Amino acid sequence: MSRDIKILAIETSCDETSASVVGSDYKILSNITYSQIPFHQKTQGVVPEVASRLHEKKIIPTIENALKSAGIKIEQIEAVAVTQGPGLVGSLLVGVETAKTIAWLRHLPIQGVNHIYAHLISPITSFDNFKTIKFPVLVLTASGGHTFLVLLLSWTNYQVLGQTIDDASGEAFDKIATLLGLPYPGGPALEKLAREFQGQSKIIFPSPKINSDDLNFSFSGLKTAVLYYLQKNPGAKKTEVAYASQQAIIKVLVEKTERAFAQFKPKTIFIAGGVSANNALRQTMIEKFSARAPIYFPAKGFFGDNAGMIGLAFFLNLKTPSEAWDKIKAQPNLKL
Ligand code: KG4
Ligand code: ZN
Repeated sequence: MSRDIKILAIETSCDETSASVVGSDYKILSNITYSQIPFHQKTQGVVPEVASRLHEKKIIPTIENALKSAGIKIEQIEAVAVTQGPGLVGSLLVGVETAKTIAWLRHLPIQGVNHIYAHLISPITSFDNFKTIKFPVLVLTASGGHTFLVLLLSWTNYQVLGQTIDDASGEAFDKIATLLGLPYPGGPALEKLAREFQGQSKIIFPSPKINSDDLNFSFSGLKTAVLYYLQKNPGAKKTEVAYASQQAIIKVLVEKTERAFAQFKPKTIFIAGGVSANNALRQTMIEKFSARAPIYFPAKGFFGDNAGMIGLAFFLNLKTPSEAWDKIKAQPNLKL
């Protein structure tokens, strides 16, 4: 695509209202994310109806902020990309309907984007020129809603190698944090508490499915093990329990990535999703893999849910940009 095109990207799949202006040169000109976390702390988790209502309140100001911060007028936007799923239905509908309305009023093409695909490719935010990346790329994406091991064969062709059969890894962080009386979202709070633990932990929590032949994950048993441990040991040091449970989650994420690496021999590794904000996980992954393949994480601000990755995913899906662009333009508006 010779001409630089600017699009508006919208993300409202869970508890972040996010809007971004992204260029066809893959530059993110703005990425404004309004987090609903303070509202969900009262209930120790996301109440879907509360999330939808907050999105409805914040979506227009967030879009206005994204345009303003990019120095772009709505008239300069040439397409709209929006998270189509997976996510909370009521939350998704707010983003999709807002995107459709903008596209309809301005006669713009609109494209739905898969939220997980956007997480998969989000580490390209840490590159100046991501076109140098070598395939296949092994991706571990770990969030509050999913945990996937994926092999990217190209930007538009990927194979799912494994996924969680019950709780997501971020959900395990959140639920164990709740057992320890920590605020929502549990991941960052549990990491902070674990950092306070000094010395060798004597607690070994199970890392479920660590020895199974497949590349799937399971995290619900760990939460139960922590619950029983706390019931049996009311005087347990919370810092140690936090440290041991974080280690159990990291161990299984690393072990399955290691197995996938041995099996598929990727040339590059990506680690993405909200859980990739965890420093201990990032350090362990770097120690394990950096000598064997280049390893990348999302740039700061792009670990969790954000509209910037939705805009990038939109452009990556244009296989041969100019042809695909014509195809998108020819689509009737509002076809999601
Ligand atoms: O990607 P994300 O923002 O939303 C989903 O698509 O789910 O991920 C949110 C998840 C939450 O479960 C949160 O506790 C977890 O990512 N998380 C962390 C950390 N920061 C966020 N988990 C562990 N350590 C962290 N520092
Ligand atoms: Zn997400």
